[in-house]
Amino acid sequence: MKVRELIQQARIDRIEAEILLADVLEVERAWLFAHGEDPVAEPALTLFIDHAKARLTGEPLAYVLGYRDFRSLRLGVNRHVLIPRRETEHLVEWAIERIDAGSRRVLDLGTGSGAIALACKSERPHAMLTAIDCSAEALACAEANARSLDMQVEWLESHWFEQLGGAQWDLVVSNPPYISASDAHLKQGDLPAEPDSALIGGQTGLESIEHIVEHAPEYLVSGGWLLFEHGFDQADAVTECMQDRGFQQITSRRDWSSQPRMTGGQWPH
Ligand SMILES: C[S@@+](CC[C@H](N)C(=O)[O-])C[C@H]1O[C@@H](n2cnc3c(N)ncnc32)[C@H](O)[C@@H]1O
Repeated sequence: MKVRELIQQARIDRIEAEILLADVLEVERAWLFAHGEDPVAEPALTLFIDHAKARLTGEPLAYVLGYRDFRSLRLGVNRHVLIPRRETEHLVEWAIERIDAGSRRVLDLGTGSGAIALACKSERPHAMLTAIDCSAEALACAEANARSLDMQVEWLESHWFEQLGGAQWDLVVSNPPYISASDAHLKQGDLPAEPDSALIGGQTGLESIEHIVEHAPEYLVSGGWLLFEHGFDQADAVTECMQDRGFQQITSRRDWSSQPRMTGGQWPH
């Protein structure tokens, strides 16, 4: 079958079909436009048909491809990790501002594919990154990404701070699970395929954030910062939680779609 026919007959979004075909043929998407009449031979043909079928049954494009681009990095992803989001790229920007302001030791809580830790390390190689997750499978994915990118991050399996001993950090950054268990969004888009443990923050959605805010001061140097990503309607609740715990200079920031999706504050000197 020809390139053009395969794309037309795939029964999935045309751009996604082009991305998948370019991926299996190991060419740039632009190549397809000049080679519409070229035949697609085995094994690429069968692989493309399998990938298109998986997409048709709702498998997220990133899982079918096996990767997602995040800032300057191409990160391997699988069903054990959240697919890194564009919003989280803004959280990395904020973390990098703090690193530039002198935070050297950085802890990424709930690292998943390693997106935040690896992006910080790649853009500020002098920073010392520790990243934890409670999922051994997620950590395996993050470590594989670090190996293929040749980056040094300390990876630890831990339920939040539990395995961290007496260490302290200048900056703690986290994109924790923050969706309420009863939120209808869990049934939409890519979310049904992603791990519940990466998405659900208890009945209120705020349970992981509250736990982290409560315990973070033991693991922050005085003057250290705690930065979160959270839901578009959670900025006030996260601010109040951080205020009650004694954090100062609390601010929220907006993402690319102008939603207040990040809140951070400083543990007092
Ligand atoms: C929203 S995902 C974020 C993944 C990644 N940091 C990112 O931004 O793409 C939340 C991550 O927190 C992890 N997690 C959930 N509960 C945890 C816990 N109790 N202790 C440690 N990690 C946890 C999940 O396994 C998941 O990888």
